[in-house]
Amino acid sequence: MNKPHENHREDVVGRANVEDTPELLQYYKELEQFSAGALWTVANKIEPWEPKSQSVPVVWRYKDLREHVLRSVDLVSAEKAGRRVIYLNNPGRTDVSAAVGWLYAGLQVMNAGEVATAHRHSASAIRFIMEGQGAYTVVDGHKMTLGENDFVLTPNGTWHEHGVEASGTHCIWQDGLDIPFVNAMEANFFEVHPDLSEPVTYPVDDMTRTWGNAGLTPGGGKWEKGYSPMFKYEWEPTYDALIKYASSTDGSPYDGVLMEYVNPVTNGPVMQTMGASMQLLRAGEHTKAHRHTGSYLYHVAKGQGHSIINGKRFDWSERDIFCVPSWAWHEHVNDAATDDACLFCLSDLPVMRAFSLYREQSFGENNGHQPLV
Ligand SMILES: [Fe+2]
Ligand SMILES: [Fe+2]
Repeated sequence: MNKPHENHREDVVGRANVEDTPELLQYYKELEQFSAGALWTVANKIEPWEPKSQSVPVVWRYKDLREHVLRSVDLVSAEKAGRRVIYLNNPGRTDVSAAVGWLYAGLQVMNAGEVATAHRHSASAIRFIMEGQGAYTVVDGHKMTLGENDFVLTPNGTWHEHGVEASGTHCIWQDGLDIPFVNAMEANFFEVHPDLSEPVTYPVDDMTRTWGNAGLTPGGGKWEKGYSPMFKYEWEPTYDALIKYASSTDGSPYDGVLMEYVNPVTNGPVMQTMGASMQLLRAGEHTKAHRHTGSYLYHVAKGQGHSIINGKRFDWSERDIFCVPSWAWHEHVNDAATDDACLFCLSDLPVMRAFSLYREQSFGENNGHQPLV
């Protein structure tokens, strides 16, 4: 949806605008034989005036998917499937199995007492816990216990193993990985741990206890890896921080009260290719529309409302997941009269920022709100 003055035309000076002639068509054929082509036949497509995402806005409703996710437990064993996951397949990105842009996402289920084979890969990952008790992840010997709305990192190259304690319940979580991005870079390796399992060699939850204390850093603590040493970010301190921040800010007109999860050593993103944030929308809050580069996968951690994406309304409630493709107009609404809503967001912003590809624009017109199409 472009605003009227942004209807970019291709029949202007500076853009390719060559009409086919029999001679030119013959010429293009000849070039093809040498694995070559004339740029002006593709220039406007490969260099659009502005980003043209192939991803389409989608909301994946938990009430539609939950039963199907649970059914996978009876249909395939954890050993046979490797990982029992129902992935989110954006209709515009089925060729790369992405949920949006270059981000992959899926819903994984594990029964009490199950453990997945330890492995590592070049792709980085997060898990965001949706339901159940007793889930844990081991990353390079550090075991993290996980509860609802907690998220855990399994960065590029780290050995990791997921499981649910025998005393727990079945657990469902959202996986989020940069698999499509790493594949686009043609740099993806995958290894199964030689022992199929990895030992826990540190005290349970040590990384969050060491690095996750607001305003404090461990004396003599050293960390030089490209990802956060705080492997687990818990829901309670996150929500608490949002409430405190909300009491002293109006927040952003576009995002409400938003906090980014950070690597406590650098104050930068939690991993080099993917970042995450949690935003709070106050009761009845309706943000203004803007758009920016980057791909965004929202997970409704709390509450209910709707978002308008490129002029179309998408209703959401707790545990639903929806995406905002790059350069899509978007605004969010908390539909509740008294309760706040919280949106967890996984994105490729660190990539956008690292390569100076981030751009942002506000909608402006119509008091900042998109007309519904
Ligand atoms: Fe993995
Ligand atoms: Fe935004």
